[in-house]
This record gives sequence, C-alpha cells and structure tokens, in this order.
Amino acid sequence: MTDLPGRISIREVGPRDGLQNEDPVPAAAKIDLIDRLSATGVERIEAVSFVHPAAIPQMADADEVWQGFGRAPGVRYSALVPNLRGAERALAAGLTEIEVVVSASETHNRKNVRRSTGESLDEIAEIIDQAHQRGATCQVIVSTAWGCPYEGNVPASRVIEVAGRAIRDGADSISFGDTTGMATPGRVWQVAGEQLFTYPGIPLNLHFHDTRGTGLANVLAALELGVTDFDASVGGLGGCPYAPGATGNIATEGLVHMVEDMGIATGIDLEAMIGAAAAAERIVGRQLPSGVLRAGPRTRTIPA
Ligand code: COA
Ligand code: ZN
Repeated sequence: MTDLPGRISIREVGPRDGLQNEDPVPAAAKIDLIDRLSATGVERIEAVSFVHPAAIPQMADADEVWQGFGRAPGVRYSALVPNLRGAERALAAGLTEIEVVVSASETHNRKNVRRSTGESLDEIAEIIDQAHQRGATCQVIVSTAWGCPYEGNVPASRVIEVAGRAIRDGADSISFGDTTGMATPGRVWQVAGEQLFTYPGIPLNLHFHDTRGTGLANVLAALELGVTDFDASVGGLGGCPYAPGATGNIATEGLVHMVEDMGIATGIDLEAMIGAAAAAERIVGRQLPSGVLRAGPRTRTIPA
C-alpha cells in the first residue's frame, strides 16, 4: 500500500459553507454549533464569512457570531471573504486568519463576486498585503478547480495559473474548491498533483463537495498524493448559492470515521462530532445527508 500521512488537519466549514446555503438561522444557534464543534477536537473552524449581506443574508450577522463563540485552546478560527471590503471587515473584527475566494472559471467568478478572475486576483494581492500588515495570514481559495457548473471542464493548467498568481502575490496557502462536486480521483491526482509538483513548498488544502458521491474517494486519492489539509462540514451541511444542484461538503464525521479506521489521526472525537451533526440537523430542521450520522460508526451494534 502507498504510504499515507499519519495525521490530517480538518477544517470544519459547516458554520460557513453549510449555513450559507440553508434558510437563515439565528446567531445564537450558530454560536451554539461553533461551540459544540470547538469541543470535538477539530483543529480549524471556518466560522463565518464577511460578504455583502444582500448577497448572502445567512451571513449578515457575521460580526455578532464572531464575537459570540468561545475560543477553545488549540482551535484556529477563520473567515471567508469575497473582496477587499470583506477583508477589511474581517481584519477590523480581529481575525488572524482569512480565506479569500476566486474562481478558476470566469463565469462562476462573475456570478459569485461580480468581477473577472483577473480583477479578483488584483484585489487579492491588496488583501494579502493588508492581512500581512495586520499580522494575519491569507489563504487563497481557488474554487471551481475541478469544473464549473456554467463552463464545464476547467483545465488543470488554468487552475495552477490562478494559484500561481496568488502565490507570487504572497498567499500563505492555497485551497482548491470542488465547488459543485465535479472531481473524481483521477482528476484529483491530475490537478492537485500538478499543483504540488509546481509549488511543493506551498501548503495545499482541499475542499470537496459530495454532489456526485465521489467525495471520500477524492480524499483517498489526495492522501495518496500526501495532502494533509481537508475541509469538511458537519452532517454534510452545505452547497453553493451560485451553483444549481450543488450539495453539501463531505461530512466531517464521515471523513473522521474513514481515516481514523485507516490509522490516520485527526484529533477529533468521533462521537462528539456525531453529536454536533445531530445538533446541526436540529438547527436547520431537515435531515442531513451524512451516512455516519444515520448509521453510527461501523462498530456500533444493535440488540440481537
Ligand atoms: N461586506 C459588506 N458590504 C460590502 C461587501 C462586503 N464584503 N462588499 C461590498 N460591500 C458593499 C460596499 O461597501 C458598497 O456599499 P455602499 O453602496 O453602501 O457603498 C456596496 O456593497 C457595493 O460595493 P461594490 O464594490 O460595488 O460591491 P461588490 O461588487 O464588490 O459586491 C460582492 C459584490 C462580492 C460583495 C458580493 O457579490 C458578495 O458578497 N458575494 C458573496 C459571494 C459569496 O459569499 N459566495 C459564496 C462563497 S464562495
Ligand atoms: Zn464549498
């Protein structure tokens, strides 16, 4: 068997990517969810996004949520921003870790942030500078990295080109987003493999949606490349408001369940994460897609 990493770092994105795609829930419920997630042992939580409140009303209370949850030792909390205005809001709120998003495909970028990819990249250079001046780090998320719901396939060379520009402008790390679940393991080897070959020193985080059921297979392909940083959302919450038909991220408890059984540590208490997924389900008031939430871990037995 290929050598796989002994440990991975999971970023929980349910409070942001998940809840931005559900009917709005009260700030208190978001704060409660983040507090529960903080108690699971997860290393990173993307807690909010600082976007235009008219574009994503679900995130209009970002400041209140950001101020409201408890900081657990050892957990890093971050926010997503779409533009300079969002970055300024995040830095003013005291964030030390921000993610800024740009799509590899022009059409998705225009629908998402009303800019060309080139315009977003110019603005991102400024955002990185401002973050660094304030002592914060900035990850650049390249979304539609495995395809665009409007344009179809996106060439790997295009994804690497967009990431390369961000890296030259000082990005601390890169994340590739499979915004609408178009990745398959072969394409993970191709796109993430080329990125790691081209920029071996730059940390790479991967963000998979399970729209077509390939989410965990994609993780396994990425583990074989040596990738150790993954996004996931509790219960499989999530989607993308600008990508019709997109479903949630890979479920955090499903990812933990799989990799821990392979001997790969996550630091996460699986039962605590399943408890957080049950809470997420109550908060959004609908059944979430997570199989491990439904069936429990593989060792859970039922009375004979
Ligand atoms: N937060 C709050 N207000 C914002 C903002 C932000 N991040 N970005 C822009 N605004 C405000 C401006 O301050 C300005 O306000 P004013 O008219 O009172 O002066 C107004 O919006 C228009 O500014 P403009 O620069 O023309 O807006 P924009 O074209 O940059 O706005 C986005 C577009 C990017 C803000 C908007 O499309 C957005 O927030 N999209 C969210 C995308 C997203 O989160 N997608 C899901 C995650 S991938
Ligand atoms: Zn996403």
